[in-house]
Amino acid sequence: MGRCDRQPLGSAPSAQRAFPPLPFAAPDQPDAELQAFLEQASARLCHWLGSAASRPPLPGLSVMPPVEPQSRGLGVDQLLADLDLVMDGAYNPGHPGALAHLDPPPLAASIVGDLICAGLNNNLLAEELSPSLSRLERSLMAWLAERIGLPAGSGGVPASGGTLSNLMALVTARRERGLGTCGEAVVLASADAHVSIGKALAVMGLPPEALRAIPVQADGAMDSQVLAVELDRLARAGVPVLAVVATAGTTVRGAVDPLPTIADLCQHAGVWLHVDGAIGAVFGLSDRHAHRVPGLARADSVTVNPQKLLGITKTSSLLLLARPQALERAFATGLPYMEPSWGGGHGGESGLQGTRPAEVLKLWLGLRQLGLEGLEQLLDGAIARREQLERGLADLGGLELRSGPLHLLAFTPASADGCQAEIWTRHTRQRLLDAQLMLSRPLYDGRHHLKAVLGNPCTGSPELERLVAVVASSLPLQPHQLP
Ligand SMILES: Cc1ncc(COP(=O)(O)O)c(C=O)c1O
Repeated sequence: MGRCDRQPLGSAPSAQRAFPPLPFAAPDQPDAELQAFLEQASARLCHWLGSAASRPPLPGLSVMPPVEPQSRGLGVDQLLADLDLVMDGAYNPGHPGALAHLDPPPLAASIVGDLICAGLNNNLLAEELSPSLSRLERSLMAWLAERIGLPAGSGGVPASGGTLSNLMALVTARRERGLGTCGEAVVLASADAHVSIGKALAVMGLPPEALRAIPVQADGAMDSQVLAVELDRLARAGVPVLAVVATAGTTVRGAVDPLPTIADLCQHAGVWLHVDGAIGAVFGLSDRHAHRVPGLARADSVTVNPQKLLGITKTSSLLLLARPQALERAFATGLPYMEPSWGGGHGGESGLQGTRPAEVLKLWLGLRQLGLEGLEQLLDGAIARREQLERGLADLGGLELRSGPLHLLAFTPASADGCQAEIWTRHTRQRLLDAQLMLSRPLYDGRHHLKAVLGNPCTGSPELERLVAVVASSLPLQPHQLP
């Protein structure tokens, strides 16, 4: 790694002293060492990805390399050997039995996008730090917003995770509602809304009571009649409502709140509608599957997480808005240490984050690689797997199945009380892990469930059949599983 030789701080360059070169790419010729390093690292990564099926989804405890830097920097061979140790102990999302979480294997082009993003090291804070990428980001946000049905002129901003997208949505809603200094404002969301909503309110300095939980119906979707009554009651009591948060894809079962009805109620009450579509909003991008999330187009703001079902490498979340100018009203600071924007505005002025990477690159590259037909295929596959598993488990009898219109499915023995469900799910999860199938074990509605997320495109019928067989052999509840 060529010319960026290390010099003693505060002294003039010295021809006599031979310092090892600092590991930055040479600026005047392709850096052969860097290229060799990248090639070896990509070969290892490709091997890791390509051997996913032969390693368990959840590795056992692995040996860790030393964490502290030594006085002399390490060479490439040692770095790669240390990397191997970390990779050995990493969660293995590409295993066909990795069904526990909303974390699929990475889409190929998004890996490349991440690499190039790191190499470019641009900063979406300001246009002069990311000229082409700032424009790419604005254009792609506008395309995505319109694709899910938001009106012409809509757009948004990427964020480092759905939690941050939800927080930015609520801060923006509060600003737009003129409730910036109001400590009495409340947010209405279903009892199954994601925990990040409560977290957002805490960050916003609101008390826990500011989150009003609306009960869900048997299908896991918000009871809109209760919402209507509550909105009416709050209006009569003079309590300001900052926003209604509807969920398009709840975390445990993938339920979708009745968005069109909720949108009508919000419109009537003059309340901001935020849709937390971290799980489900990607279905709104599809011609064949948009019917699973009807009414997305009526939202003031929508959280979308391409890092989940689409397999865009982490992190990739977006906050899309019908009127994206609201973001600047909520977050712009004037960035006094930057040249003024010459185009559509600085990225750092339209959200909470200042410096942030060009996450747009891997999303753009990934979507272009997938194509619209690939997107349909990806969603078709996820839905087909959920339907197959649902049929298989329903045929066993004795299970309570919790699902929705998306690709998530949770289940527990119908007759189990809380304690029995805890024991059964713990034992059965272990038996599934022994069969190279990883499910998660959320506590839902007072009882533990096993949860499968069918977003892994490497999962096929053999895994689903094996899963049903293991569950079948764990039923009915055995006496030793009873407390
Ligand atoms: C419905 C929902 N909203 C928001 C989030 C938070 O997303 P993140 O983990 O990217 O912060 C999740 C995470 O699973 C989720 O399921």
